[in-house]
Formats: sequence, structure tokens, C-alpha cells
Amino acid sequence: MKTLVKNGTIVTSTNEFAADILIEDEKISMIASHIDVEADTVIDAAGKYVLPGGVDNHSHFEALNTDGVTTNAGYDTTWVALKGGTTTIVDFCTNEPGMDMMESLEYRLNVRSKGKLAPDMAIHAVCTDFRGEETLDEIPKLVEAGVPTMKLFLAYKPTPLYMDDYKYLRFLERASQVGMTMMVHAENPDVLDYERNKMAEAGCLDPKYHYMTRPPYGEAEAVARSIKFADAMDCPLCIVHVSCIEAAEVIQEARAKGSLVIGETCPHYLVLDKHKMDDPDFDQAARWVCSPPLRDEEDREYLWKCLNHDWLSIVGSDNSSIPLYQKHWGEGDFRKIPNGCPGAGDRLNALWTYGVEKGKITRQKLVDVYATLPAKLNGIFPQKGTIDIGTDGDLVIFDPEYRGTVTVESNPTGVEYNVYEGCE
Ligand code: URP
Ligand code: ZN
Ligand code: ZN
Repeated sequence: MKTLVKNGTIVTSTNEFAADILIEDEKISMIASHIDVEADTVIDAAGKYVLPGGVDNHSHFEALNTDGVTTNAGYDTTWVALKGGTTTIVDFCTNEPGMDMMESLEYRLNVRSKGKLAPDMAIHAVCTDFRGEETLDEIPKLVEAGVPTMKLFLAYKPTPLYMDDYKYLRFLERASQVGMTMMVHAENPDVLDYERNKMAEAGCLDPKYHYMTRPPYGEAEAVARSIKFADAMDCPLCIVHVSCIEAAEVIQEARAKGSLVIGETCPHYLVLDKHKMDDPDFDQAARWVCSPPLRDEEDREYLWKCLNHDWLSIVGSDNSSIPLYQKHWGEGDFRKIPNGCPGAGDRLNALWTYGVEKGKITRQKLVDVYATLPAKLNGIFPQKGTIDIGTDGDLVIFDPEYRGTVTVESNPTGVEYNVYEGCE
């Protein structure tokens, strides 16, 4: 089976040039200025950019929600990622009830997602059921099985997602012995309890109190602590979904001092404003409830700058498609709104329109943060994340002239809404 892509401009994280690409049996077999061979499919990419397929470092399909009970939209909706230019998702595997992490991995690959995936999938482990040594002994097995990353939630107390510092240290110690990279959700849980309960006791229960009670100092403190602990255990660390200046500065300083830490941010922190949650209509306000929360204009400006300086290295979607009926569980108490925004299909468009077109990042930087570095972090580079001879034929043919306004119909998410609705 041969596919020929002609007349496009190839963009990688380091390069840009006009060339044709031949794909044979799903692998790139030739890149040259002009390729004239018989092919089963010929695609004319004139006037278009040809990018490596996106690798999304952060998606939650059919994973335990932040309420600790329900799961978000399923693998039958992963086609929205593919439609938005992501050809590989790196999805989180939470513990299935009564199963350890290895059994849960097996179940996710062979039951939950079987026959439903549109993009390819790699996995991050997540421990939501800590059973001491027995759990820690799974870490080398996960690495052996091709899962070199694990996320721990240092927030969401008192759900099963939450891991305290004692457990976090034990995970770090074991992970460092086998070269696993630890990933953390960094918000201080006691700061959250203090701020949230104080507000709720004062009768302030609308969705907007979500962002008012998850302050940057709580995020920055948890980022600093998680790096200190990872340094002490000599374990590589990835801080996911960094939302604000204070937290990003901590990562920047730690990297300058030589800590083995990288940072990820998300399109919604680069594009959307927290005041979305001021909407008096609960249905509108609750859809933007995610953690850490959306922030301010100066945070967005700084996050773009961080990408350019490699103070933050990856942009993952943090896709978490929660239907509105579940968001409604928090009507009357913002603390009960399940956290998370859909976004698997919007990553590339958001980075292009609000990054490349506004002159904030180059096309090479876009490719780096949306495909190349996520592939490297997850051990799937160069098979994924670049365009080269022998790599997978996962390509995005991107039309830079296209203009449109986001609706949930044009940019589907697997649920009834898209958080970028109305954006160019
Ligand atoms: O609000 C968020 N981010 N929901 C998804 C779970 C997580 O913390 O990544
Ligand atoms: Zn998180
Ligand atoms: Zn997440």
C-alpha cells in the first residue's frame, strides 16, 4: 500500500522545506523534491504545511473523574483528537476497581479501548489504589511493558486520586531506580481546603469561586515541593498543566540549577480567561471548571514566553470531556463540579491561531511542543513526533489559509460543548 503526498511544505521541529513524501505500508520510505511513482493514493498538498502527526501528552478518555467516582467520555470519541491533528494520544490509566496497575493497563488496552481508538495510543500509569510495596513493585513491570511515565495527583483530596507526600516520595524512590519519569498534578491540597472551605462557609458557591480558591501560590508551592522531592530522589519529573507565572518561574529556576524537570502547559491556559466562569448561567460557567483553573492575561503572555525559552516544553490537551449533566452535580456548590475541559481536537488549531499567527511562536516551536518533545518524553520518538525516513506515516496536512469560528459542530469534543466556542 503506497500513499504519495505531493507539493507540500514539510515542517519539523528543526526544519522547513518543500518536498514530496512517499509512505509505504504505514512507514515513510522516501522524502525528495519530486517523487514520481505509482501510488494507491495521491494527495496534493500544494499551499499546505505537512506536519508530523500530533502527540498529545495528556488525555483522559474513560478515566476516573476528579470526583473520584465517574469516568469521562469514552474511547469511541477519540476520533475528535484525530480530526484535530493528533495521531497519538498518551492517555492516563487509572486503577480499575479491584485491579492493580498492571491489570488495569491490560484491561484498558484489551477491553476498554479495544476496537474504539481512532489515533494510536501510548499510556501513562496512574496509581489510585496504593497498596504499599506490592504497588511499588509494579513500577519496573510497567517500564518493561512500555510505560515509562506515571502521574500522581498531589491534589483532589480526599478522592482516590490523591497521593500524600509520603507516598509520593516512595514512588519517586522506586521510579528513579528504573528510569521512569514521574508526572505530577501540583496544587497544595491543604491550601485548596483552606481557600475553598472558607469561601463556601461564607455562602460563595457559584462556579467562579473555583478559580478564586485555587490561587497561584498553592500551585507554585506544590511545584516547588514536588521538584525538591524529585531532586532528592534523583527522579526525572514532568509538571503537567502549568497554568500561571508563579508556577512556571519555579520550573524555570529549577531547570537553570540543573533539576531534571520539564513542564507542560495546555492550550486553554494559553488562550482562555478565567472570567469565563463569571457567567451567571451555570451551564456556561461550569464548562470551564478545570484544575488548575484558567488564569489572567499576564499568565498567558508568560506561558507563551516560557515555551519559547524551553522553560515549559510540552503542550498537552488535558482532554477531559465531562457531559453537562455531570457538571450539574456542582450546581449550588462549586466544589462538587467535576474538573476538566475537553480539548483533544483543538490543540493544533489553538497553537496555530493564537501562537504562530500572532507571532508568539514559530512553526518549528509548534511542532516541537505538540509532537516532537511529547514523543521523546514518552519513549516513542522517532517512530512518532517527526517526519523522517522510516518513521510512522502519521502526517497532518494543514491549510494555513483556512478561517472559521469554533462551534461544537465544526470542532467536536465528544460532549455537548466546546470550550473554544466563538473563538476564531
Ligand atoms: O481539571 C482537570 N485538569 N481535569 C483532569 C484531571 C487532571 O487533573 O488532569
Ligand atoms: Zn491533573
Ligand atoms: Zn489531566
